[in-house]
Amino acid sequence: MSAVNSEKIPNNVDLSSNKKLQRALEEWQPNYLDWWMEVGPEGFQQDEIYLRTAVSVDTDGWAKFGHVKMPDYRWGIFLTPVQKERTIHFGDQIGGKIWDEVPGELRKELRRLIVTQADTEPASVEQQRLLGKTCPSLYDLRNLFQVNVEEGRHLWAMVYLLMQYFGKDGREEAQDLLIRRSGHQDSPRILEAFNKPIDDWLAFFCFTTFTDRDGKYQLGALAESAFDPLARSTRFMLTEEAHHMFVGETGVARVIERTAELMKTAPEGDVTKVGGIPLELVQRYVNEWLAASLDLFGGEDSSNSATYFAAGLKGRWDEANDSKWPDHKALDGSYTLEVPKDGGLTDHHIPLRRAMNLVLRDCYVDDCKKVIERWNKVLERAGLAERMTLPSERFNRHQGVYAGLPFAPDGTLLSREAWDAKRDTFLPSAKDYAYVKSLMVPVVEPGKFAGWIAPPKKGINNLPGDFVYVKFHGAQ
Ligand SMILES: [Fe+2]
Ligand SMILES: [Fe+2]
Repeated sequence: MSAVNSEKIPNNVDLSSNKKLQRALEEWQPNYLDWWMEVGPEGFQQDEIYLRTAVSVDTDGWAKFGHVKMPDYRWGIFLTPVQKERTIHFGDQIGGKIWDEVPGELRKELRRLIVTQADTEPASVEQQRLLGKTCPSLYDLRNLFQVNVEEGRHLWAMVYLLMQYFGKDGREEAQDLLIRRSGHQDSPRILEAFNKPIDDWLAFFCFTTFTDRDGKYQLGALAESAFDPLARSTRFMLTEEAHHMFVGETGVARVIERTAELMKTAPEGDVTKVGGIPLELVQRYVNEWLAASLDLFGGEDSSNSATYFAAGLKGRWDEANDSKWPDHKALDGSYTLEVPKDGGLTDHHIPLRRAMNLVLRDCYVDDCKKVIERWNKVLERAGLAERMTLPSERFNRHQGVYAGLPFAPDGTLLSREAWDAKRDTFLPSAKDYAYVKSLMVPVVEPGKFAGWIAPPKKGINNLPGDFVYVKFHGAQ
């Protein structure tokens, strides 16, 4: 199926033959643009950015690259093609027909799932809005804006579902998605990690490594859904998400690479004397963003997750893979979780369906471990003995059974006093933030990079190192 790109809203959902939906979306479009101009990237709106735009869902040609001004970006609605033989493949209704419409009895649950996912998309754009002003290079500036416009497109993808399948309620939700604001006191975004400030590029790279990766797992679980339009929307979103995680992971890797290089020549190995970011400081950022991202998976023992699984709304990661998940009903068995009790930890058994948040989180953590291994390869190649680590799932949690307890990054339970005394070795301190901030000076000369980060191995779309990813027109 190819897309119709001559339309106001590029899409492969045959928008032109659905006048009511088309009108609703065209009414929403100017509000979306107002939102973008108000709380999207500050500045740069008149500049031409080398961006890829989704133009179809064909595996070998969905992306078109070219210089565009961000407000002219063509945010479209794309679903992966209908699979003829798809049936429900997990939960109570295995083998049943997938749904093209929302079943009345699941309306509330589906709306909640979609709105929660949708809310994260504009939130991250708001969180990242000032970063352009301190970009370490044109390459990085372009990557930031690529992530931003695609999060905008993800919002479109979810708003399409709300408007098409949830009538007036859906239209109201679509409006509210443009009204809530990341970090706003009275009208914040729904999930906590999406209200945290992202004030520097190290935070941005950690966010795109760990928080966008939560997005990957949430979208993956929804891509298994029996509600077919949701499954097909989220499956296409995953193709874009891969680039966001690439930006994050390679961003941190490039910081580590540069630091490793500087450690060899800096006086007493202290990279802060030569404008580098110490590995311990990078580790503290990792600790912070991993913990905040783990919180996004919700309660370990969750009746909602059981309901979603039973009904076929939300599966496990790669649910269709029979060798990974031989039992798609998950009615038997339990998940054993160590929970805090009387100053120690004790085993708690959670019926499997109620533990689906945890099962998804475990897949996420395995993935994060591999990221850490790849970062450690950078240190290994540099001949250094230092290593990055993934903090324990118990560390610095604000949700779930470990919330508020003084666990160290290695997972041991400390006294409150001991934790407080070590706090600044676990998490970024005010001094850390101030130091990182002092390094954030913009570098916009083609092919040049800030001193705290190594250049990438190769350019976007294999372009040369000095490619002009951003053509400036407006005043910066
Ligand atoms: Fe997204
Ligand atoms: Fe993303």
